[in-house]
Amino acid sequence: MSPFELTRTLPEDATGAALRADVLHGLTATPKTLPPKWFYDARGSELFEEITRLPEYYPTRAEREILRDRAADVAAATGARTLVELGSGSSDKTRHLLDALTGLHSYVPVDVSESALRGAADALLAERPRLHVHALVADFTARLALPKTPGPRVVAFLGGTIGNLLPAERAVFLRAVRAMLDPGDAFVLGTDLVKDESVLVRAYDDAAGVTAEFNKNVLAVLARELGADVDPADFDHVALWDRRAEWIEMRLRARSALTVKIPELGLAVPFEEGEELRTEVSAKFRREGVRAELAAAGLTLAHWWTDAEGRFALSLATVAG
Ligand code: AVJ
Repeated sequence: MSPFELTRTLPEDATGAALRADVLHGLTATPKTLPPKWFYDARGSELFEEITRLPEYYPTRAEREILRDRAADVAAATGARTLVELGSGSSDKTRHLLDALTGLHSYVPVDVSESALRGAADALLAERPRLHVHALVADFTARLALPKTPGPRVVAFLGGTIGNLLPAERAVFLRAVRAMLDPGDAFVLGTDLVKDESVLVRAYDDAAGVTAEFNKNVLAVLARELGADVDPADFDHVALWDRRAEWIEMRLRARSALTVKIPELGLAVPFEEGEELRTEVSAKFRREGVRAELAAAGLTLAHWWTDAEGRFALSLATVAG
């Protein structure tokens, strides 16, 4: 068997069809919304990388600290022979886990971006020629058919990306994760934690304006992919903390009354002056909430590790038995 295989479970045009459906639905809804996954074209991915290096954006550094300090504990707790990573991107932060899992046979990165998967696999295989990399081009929110690799398996979902899902979507997602696991397998989850409002808001409204540019980039995606006649400069970046839902919301606020025409969808979307479009929810968590959501999906919280400042958590859950 070749050390690299790639399986595509998404049709080539799935992305375009999903974007059109999301835009049609989200821009005709009240209030207007768009799902955050459309931020990540090449430019958006570059801007997100830049965000992770901002002084205000702590989650990436905090999670990396935990992975560095706890990867050996993950290895000891799981004895994993297969690591599945959902939303693997560049597989950068996974290095600590790959290094610590000494008995590892297979790495299964799952991402919607085939180019990201190929780039990550090339880099990894250069260092670890004997690792089997079986990349899956797939949407991690869909039910996945995993390749037949040796167990025990660890499924990892890092970066706090679970916070982009609404509570009902998280319940569906966690049940799908549970369905991927056999007894003896484990799930490793990264979650950003509830903390001081000013720290949270600064992380999503940085002084250099990188997050504002990232947020407005979704409008550039609509212009390029759907021919929308929209000027990002007509919108202001908004980041606010919803203390009841315990999530950050990013919005784009129309600076004046305007209409966004999307001829490809036969749409003319009117905005009133000051009207906001919600582009992202980034939920923040507490240990008890994570435990309860895992339990509802048939998973038992076995370990909870945080960075020294208690800003971010890595959970390890096992199959409830
Ligand atoms: C990649 C989803 C974890 O929610 O913090 C960063 C994305 N949005 N700044 C997050 C993001 C604005 C990020 N995740």
